[in-house]
This record gives sequence, structure tokens and C-alpha cells, in this order.
Amino acid sequence: MAILKVARLGHPVLRRPASPVPPEEVRTPEIQRLIDDMIETMREYDGAGLAANQVHTLKQIAVIEVLENERYPDAPQVPLTVVINPVVTPLSEELEEGWEGCLSVPDMRGLVPRHTAVRLQCLDRAGQPVDVVAKEFFARVVQHETDHLNGVVYLDRMPDLSTLSHIAEWNKHWLGLREQND
Ligand code: NI
Repeated sequence: MAILKVARLGHPVLRRPASPVPPEEVRTPEIQRLIDDMIETMREYDGAGLAANQVHTLKQIAVIEVLENERYPDAPQVPLTVVINPVVTPLSEELEEGWEGCLSVPDMRGLVPRHTAVRLQCLDRAGQPVDVVAKEFFARVVQHETDHLNGVVYLDRMPDLSTLSHIAEWNKHWLGLREQND
């Protein structure tokens, strides 16, 4: 396995849509190795998720995992989930604002409205169909990663850029405020 280089905001690969993986290719060594490397890269940099665009590969693959994470100390845990060719359908009209960061936008946080529940249809790493309802933080990460696969970053979803914060200032000025609101 290998830790892959992560593209940062400004690299055109983050703005291009990824192509679906043909189902018969999911189990090939190339795709399995890419998935393993993406998992290792996500864990190395303490990401909650990683999309293939972020590692310079325009395939519709994302990995998600939320364990105890220093970058998201209050986030509920999500077991390792490999998402291939996702189709995401909102199940709530309701949007909820929450803080997001991105390994491609290092050291920044911003408030992003997301649907609180979505249906996720995709393939898993064995090529098997998955059809689940994702809620709350898992739903947020699914929407964030699926956006990446469509060339969209979380900044595009912020209606108000005034909350965009460097992590050092966020820790000082926003973290406590958020806890009061919980
Ligand atoms: Ni991201």
C-alpha cells in the first residue's frame, strides 16, 4: 500500500467529473490497490473521507471512515465504507448546517448546509450493490465525497463565506460556540 499525493484546491483534477467504474473492473487488482491506497491515505491524513479526484484519479470511487478523529472530535463514528459509482438521492427537504473541512483545502473549516438524510446507491469493493439510508454526519460525508466526484468542493456549497475559517482561528472562535449550540 502507498500514501498518495493529495491534490489541493486549484488543481484542475478537483474540478473535473469522475467516470463510473465498469462493474466488471471493480475486482481487478488495479482498482483494489487504488482503494487500499485511498484508505491508507485517508487514515494517514485523518480525513473523514477521500474521493479519487483528490488523488488525481478520475474514477467514481470514494472511501469514508470516521473513527475517533482529532479533526472532528465530536463527530459520530462511521465504519469504513467504500463507495463506487454513487447515486445520492436526498430524503429530507431539511438542510442542516455543519462544519466541514477537506484534505484538498488544508487547515480550513466552513459551515455547509446539507440534507440530513440521503439514500446512497452504489457498489462496494466486491462489486456488490449497496442501497442504504445515510443520516446526519454519515449523510454529510456522503454528500461531500459525491460532490468531489462531480467536480464540486464544499466551498461551492457555502451560502455565506464569512464562516470560512483557518483551523487555528476556528479552534479559538467557533469550536466553543458550536458546543454551546449542541
Ligand atoms: Ni473533501
